[in-house]
Amino acid sequence: MKIGIIGIGAIGGTLARKLCAAGHEVRVANSKGPEGVRAFAEEIHAIPADTQGAIDGADVVILSIPFPAVAKLPKGSFDSLPESVPVIDTGNYYPGMRDPHIPEIEAGKVESLWVAEQIGRPIIKDWNAEQTRIALTRAKPDAAPTKRDAMGETYATLGPNPSHAAIVASNRLINAVE
Ligand SMILES: NC(=O)c1ccc[n+]([C@@H]2O[C@H](COP(=O)([O-])OP(=O)(O)OC[C@H]3O[C@@H](n4cnc5c(N)ncnc54)[C@H](OP(=O)(O)O)[C@@H]3O)[C@@H](O)[C@H]2O)c1
Repeated sequence: MKIGIIGIGAIGGTLARKLCAAGHEVRVANSKGPEGVRAFAEEIHAIPADTQGAIDGADVVILSIPFPAVAKLPKGSFDSLPESVPVIDTGNYYPGMRDPHIPEIEAGKVESLWVAEQIGRPIIKDWNAEQTRIALTRAKPDAAPTKRDAMGETYATLGPNPSHAAIVASNRLINAVE
Protein backbone atom coordinates (compact mmCIF):
# COMPACT_ATOMS: atom_id res chain seq x y z
CA MET A 1 0.00 0.00 0.00
CA LYS A 2 1.03 3.62 -0.44
CA ILE A 3 0.99 5.13 3.02
CA GLY A 4 1.50 8.80 3.86
CA ILE A 5 2.60 9.56 7.40
CA ILE A 6 2.53 13.12 8.74
CA GLY A 7 4.55 13.35 11.93
CA ILE A 8 7.62 11.16 12.45
CA GLY A 9 8.02 11.44 16.19
CA ALA A 10 7.65 8.68 18.76
CA ILE A 11 4.53 7.13 17.27
CA GLY A 12 4.55 8.26 13.62
CA GLY A 13 8.23 7.43 13.31
CA THR A 14 7.68 3.99 14.79
CA LEU A 15 4.77 3.29 12.46
CA ALA A 16 6.79 4.52 9.48
CA ARG A 17 9.71 2.27 10.34
CA LYS A 18 7.54 -0.78 10.76
CA LEU A 19 5.37 -0.18 7.71
CA CYS A 20 8.48 0.29 5.56
CA ALA A 21 9.93 -2.93 6.94
CA ALA A 22 6.69 -4.68 6.01
CA GLY A 23 7.13 -3.63 2.38
CA HIS A 24 4.73 -0.70 2.13
CA GLU A 25 5.63 2.41 0.13
CA VAL A 26 5.78 5.06 2.83
CA ARG A 27 6.02 8.82 2.42
CA VAL A 28 6.95 10.72 5.55
CA ALA A 29 6.51 14.40 6.39
CA ASN A 30 6.76 16.81 9.25
CA SER A 31 6.32 20.59 9.32
CA LYS A 32 9.73 21.28 7.77
CA GLY A 33 9.38 20.03 4.20
CA PRO A 34 11.17 17.12 2.52
CA GLU A 35 14.63 18.20 3.68
CA GLY A 36 13.44 18.14 7.28
CA VAL A 37 12.65 14.42 7.04
CA ARG A 38 15.24 13.29 4.50
CA ALA A 39 17.73 11.75 6.94
CA PHE A 40 15.04 9.74 8.71
CA ALA A 41 13.44 8.73 5.42
CA GLU A 42 16.75 7.45 4.07
CA GLU A 43 17.39 5.52 7.28
CA ILE A 44 14.11 3.59 7.06
CA HIS A 45 13.84 3.49 3.23
CA ALA A 46 10.84 5.82 3.07
CA ILE A 47 10.25 8.73 0.69
CA PRO A 48 10.73 12.25 2.10
CA ALA A 49 7.82 14.58 1.43
CA ASP A 50 6.07 17.71 2.55
CA THR A 51 2.63 17.27 4.11
CA GLN A 52 0.83 17.56 0.76
CA GLY A 53 3.23 15.07 -0.77
CA ALA A 54 2.43 12.61 1.99
CA ILE A 55 -1.29 12.96 1.31
CA ASP A 56 -1.43 12.99 -2.48
CA GLY A 57 -1.72 9.54 -4.02
CA ALA A 58 -1.85 7.72 -0.68
CA ASP A 59 -4.00 4.64 -0.08
CA VAL A 60 -3.95 5.45 3.65
CA VAL A 61 -2.89 8.62 5.48
CA ILE A 62 -1.68 8.52 9.08
CA LEU A 63 -1.69 11.72 11.12
CA SER A 64 0.67 11.50 14.08
CA ILE A 65 1.26 15.06 15.16
CA PRO A 66 0.57 16.92 18.41
CA PHE A 67 -3.23 17.10 18.80
CA PRO A 68 -3.67 20.87 18.27
CA ALA A 69 -1.32 20.83 15.25
CA VAL A 70 -4.05 19.41 12.99
CA ALA A 71 -5.48 22.94 12.97
CA LYS A 72 -2.19 24.18 11.50
CA LEU A 73 -2.15 21.85 8.50
CA PRO A 74 -2.65 23.91 5.32
CA LYS A 75 -6.37 24.38 4.65
CA GLY A 76 -7.66 22.20 1.84
CA SER A 77 -4.82 19.69 2.16
CA PHE A 78 -7.21 16.75 1.99
CA ASP A 79 -9.63 18.15 -0.58
CA SER A 80 -8.30 16.16 -3.51
CA LEU A 81 -7.87 12.91 -1.58
CA PRO A 82 -10.50 10.39 -2.74
CA GLU A 83 -13.22 9.71 -0.18
CA SER A 84 -12.26 6.03 -0.23
CA VAL A 85 -8.91 6.78 1.44
CA PRO A 86 -8.94 6.42 5.23
CA VAL A 87 -7.22 9.03 7.36
CA ILE A 88 -6.03 7.57 10.66
CA ASP A 89 -5.28 9.89 13.58
CA THR A 90 -3.08 8.68 16.44
CA GLY A 91 -3.56 11.91 18.36
CA ASN A 92 -4.61 12.35 21.97
CA TYR A 93 -5.78 15.57 23.60
CA TYR A 94 -3.83 16.40 26.76
CA PRO A 95 -5.24 19.77 27.90
CA GLY A 96 -3.19 21.58 30.47
CA MET A 97 -0.38 19.02 30.31
CA ARG A 98 0.96 19.30 26.78
CA ASP A 99 -1.84 20.92 24.80
CA PRO A 100 -3.65 24.23 25.19
CA HIS A 101 -7.34 24.01 26.09
CA ILE A 102 -9.53 23.81 23.02
CA PRO A 103 -12.84 25.57 23.81
CA GLU A 104 -15.06 23.44 21.55
CA ILE A 105 -13.81 20.21 23.13
CA GLU A 106 -14.05 21.65 26.62
CA ALA A 107 -17.68 22.45 25.74
CA GLY A 108 -18.32 18.81 24.92
CA LYS A 109 -17.36 18.25 21.29
CA VAL A 110 -15.99 14.77 20.66
CA GLU A 111 -12.24 14.99 19.98
CA SER A 112 -12.32 13.02 16.74
CA LEU A 113 -15.11 15.26 15.41
CA TRP A 114 -13.00 18.32 16.21
CA VAL A 115 -10.09 16.80 14.28
CA ALA A 116 -12.40 15.92 11.37
CA GLU A 117 -13.61 19.50 11.24
CA GLN A 118 -10.05 20.83 11.14
CA ILE A 119 -9.07 18.71 8.15
CA GLY A 120 -12.45 18.63 6.42
CA ARG A 121 -13.01 14.87 6.38
CA PRO A 122 -13.77 12.02 8.77
CA ILE A 123 -10.98 10.24 10.59
CA ILE A 124 -10.42 6.88 12.20
CA LYS A 125 -8.65 6.80 15.55
CA ASP A 126 -6.04 4.10 15.92
CA TRP A 127 -2.75 3.48 17.64
CA ASN A 128 -3.58 6.35 19.98
CA ALA A 129 -3.54 3.93 22.92
CA GLU A 130 -0.21 2.37 21.96
CA GLN A 131 2.97 2.91 23.90
CA THR A 132 5.94 3.45 21.64
CA ARG A 133 8.21 1.06 23.47
CA ILE A 134 5.68 -1.77 23.36
CA ALA A 135 4.97 -1.19 19.68
CA LEU A 136 8.66 -1.35 18.86
CA THR A 137 9.39 -4.51 20.78
CA ARG A 138 6.44 -6.29 19.16
CA ALA A 139 7.62 -5.46 15.64
CA LYS A 140 7.18 -8.51 13.42
CA PRO A 141 6.63 -7.55 9.78
CA ASP A 142 5.85 -11.15 8.79
CA ALA A 143 3.79 -11.99 11.85
CA ALA A 144 0.87 -14.35 11.65
CA PRO A 145 -2.57 -12.89 12.47
CA THR A 146 -2.91 -12.01 16.15
CA LYS A 147 -5.63 -10.99 18.53
CA ARG A 148 -4.92 -7.44 17.48
CA ASP A 149 -6.70 -8.11 14.19
CA ALA A 150 -9.99 -8.42 16.00
CA MET A 151 -9.17 -5.48 18.22
CA GLY A 152 -8.14 -3.42 15.23
CA GLU A 153 -11.46 -4.12 13.62
CA THR A 154 -13.23 -2.96 16.75
CA TYR A 155 -11.25 0.25 16.81
CA ALA A 156 -11.59 0.80 13.12
CA THR A 157 -15.35 0.43 13.05
CA LEU A 158 -15.50 3.45 15.31
CA GLY A 159 -14.90 5.44 12.15
CA PRO A 160 -17.93 6.50 10.11
CA ASN A 161 -17.00 4.78 6.86
CA PRO A 162 -17.17 0.94 6.79
CA SER A 163 -14.80 0.69 3.84
CA HIS A 164 -12.21 2.73 5.73
CA ALA A 165 -12.62 0.37 8.66
CA ALA A 166 -12.00 -2.63 6.43
CA ILE A 167 -8.76 -1.15 5.10
CA VAL A 168 -7.45 -0.26 8.54
CA ALA A 169 -8.41 -3.63 9.99
CA SER A 170 -6.77 -5.54 7.16
CA ASN A 171 -4.03 -7.92 8.21
CA ARG A 172 -1.47 -6.18 6.01
CA LEU A 173 -1.71 -2.93 7.92
CA ILE A 174 -2.33 -4.17 11.44
CA ASN A 175 0.17 -7.02 11.43
CA ALA A 176 2.91 -4.75 10.16
CA VAL A 177 2.89 -2.77 13.36
CA GLU A 178 2.14 -5.45 15.94
N1 LIG B 1 4.32 8.92 22.21
C1 LIG B 1 3.44 7.95 22.41
O1 LIG B 1 3.74 6.91 23.00
C2 LIG B 1 2.02 8.13 21.90
C3 LIG B 1 1.17 7.02 21.98
C4 LIG B 1 -0.11 7.12 21.44
C5 LIG B 1 -0.56 8.29 20.89
N2 LIG B 1 0.27 9.38 20.85
C6 LIG B 1 -0.26 10.63 20.26
O2 LIG B 1 0.18 10.67 18.90
C7 LIG B 1 0.46 12.06 18.57
C8 LIG B 1 1.93 12.15 18.21
O3 LIG B 1 2.67 11.79 19.37
P1 LIG B 1 4.25 11.62 19.37
O4 LIG B 1 4.61 11.20 20.75
O5 LIG B 1 4.65 10.75 18.21
O6 LIG B 1 4.71 13.12 19.12
P2 LIG B 1 6.17 13.68 18.85
O7 LIG B 1 7.19 12.66 19.18
O8 LIG B 1 6.23 15.01 19.50
O9 LIG B 1 6.20 13.89 17.25
C9 LIG B 1 5.35 14.81 16.63
C10 LIG B 1 5.67 14.84 15.15
O10 LIG B 1 4.74 15.75 14.51
C11 LIG B 1 5.47 16.67 13.71
N3 LIG B 1 4.69 17.90 13.61
C12 LIG B 1 4.42 18.80 14.59
N4 LIG B 1 3.65 19.79 14.12
C13 LIG B 1 3.44 19.52 12.80
C14 LIG B 1 2.72 20.17 11.78
N5 LIG B 1 2.04 21.31 11.99
N6 LIG B 1 2.72 19.63 10.53
C15 LIG B 1 3.40 18.49 10.28
N7 LIG B 1 4.09 17.81 11.23
C16 LIG B 1 4.11 18.32 12.48
C17 LIG B 1 6.78 16.82 14.44
O11 LIG B 1 7.79 17.29 13.60
P3 LIG B 1 8.23 18.84 13.54
O12 LIG B 1 7.79 19.51 14.81
O13 LIG B 1 9.71 18.77 13.38
O14 LIG B 1 7.53 19.36 12.33
C18 LIG B 1 7.06 15.38 14.83
O15 LIG B 1 7.61 14.65 13.75
C19 LIG B 1 0.11 12.89 19.81
O16 LIG B 1 -1.20 13.39 19.71
C20 LIG B 1 0.20 11.88 20.94
O17 LIG B 1 -0.64 12.21 22.01
C21 LIG B 1 1.56 9.31 21.33
